[in-house]
Amino acid sequence: MAQLPLPRRPRRLRATPAVRALVAETDVLPRHLIAPLFVRENASVPAAIASMPGVKRHLLPDLVKEAAALHKLGIPAVALFPALATVKKDGRGTAATDPKGLIARAIRLLKKELPEMLVITDAALDPYTTHGHDGVLDKKGRVDNDATVAILARQTVLYAEAGADFVAPSDMMDGRVAALRAALDKAGHIHTGIIAYASKFASAYYGPFREAVGSGARKGSGYLDKRTYQLSPGNRREALLEALLDEEEGADIVMVKPAGPYLDVLREVRDAVHVPVAAYQVSGEYAQIQAAAQNGWLDLEKTRDESLHGIRRAGADMILTYFARGYAESWKKLNA
Ligand code: PBG
Repeated sequence: MAQLPLPRRPRRLRATPAVRALVAETDVLPRHLIAPLFVRENASVPAAIASMPGVKRHLLPDLVKEAAALHKLGIPAVALFPALATVKKDGRGTAATDPKGLIARAIRLLKKELPEMLVITDAALDPYTTHGHDGVLDKKGRVDNDATVAILARQTVLYAEAGADFVAPSDMMDGRVAALRAALDKAGHIHTGIIAYASKFASAYYGPFREAVGSGARKGSGYLDKRTYQLSPGNRREALLEALLDEEEGADIVMVKPAGPYLDVLREVRDAVHVPVAAYQVSGEYAQIQAAAQNGWLDLEKTRDESLHGIRRAGADMILTYFARGYAESWKKLNA
């Protein structure tokens, strides 16, 4: 066989693990990961989530154990989501502003037992409302922007009082970042940060999460339509505008969500803002990989690692992922 007269042979830099490590452009380290954790009110809410194998709803003592294990693995932050008993929900999401509510208690406990772990809590009403929307409804049944923002401000101050390090508005109401910043500052919580779910799309990939917190559609297909506030999947420019607005309004970190189907948006947001950018690999992205792996159709760890590297490569400074613990465990084994 004649040797090709090639001036460049890119394969030289792929030949061995050592040279591949030397030229690796993207790392996913435990420090880049945020673990979303579900907290359940009591034993009346089951632990297992059918569509999210390997993820559970934790009772409070168990939550502390899980957070401690994550901390040991080098994961710097957890994001808490409540799974309320149905009786605690109502049309206005009243339980969201209960000072003795589930999340307020969870924050206090975590910050007491594990002060170094960063605690992020969602500002949104969907786990608390019977209809599952992120806000309250007006007389015509529309999600009422300004009335919702006023409630989120109360929820936010409450979480800050309980000791949350960051509040993460995930509701997509207009003007909420500025309103939450003002409310926090007015209450003296200048150190509490805001991670804004800035470019959040109206996605079918949230299905398993809605099972987990019981916020899905009550009737019909199980898909709850949030298109009057979340972004249209095809809209790139509008997603960028949302990120820029939230940065301007005072967000410390902006987020793109979901991650995998929106890597182009992630890259553009990373290039456009000056604050750190988070990406949320959402429940459906996790479920897809788990389901295929359970069928023997995909290799779980390899697909997991590839999906996370793709998200980092696209520009995420940090990733919220249900794979956080598993990834960090594998990473530890490899780097022991
Ligand atoms: C709600 C919220 C959602 C998620 C995080 N916060 C769902 C929704 O908007 O309906 C989804 C996360 C996931 O799917 O993992 N404000």
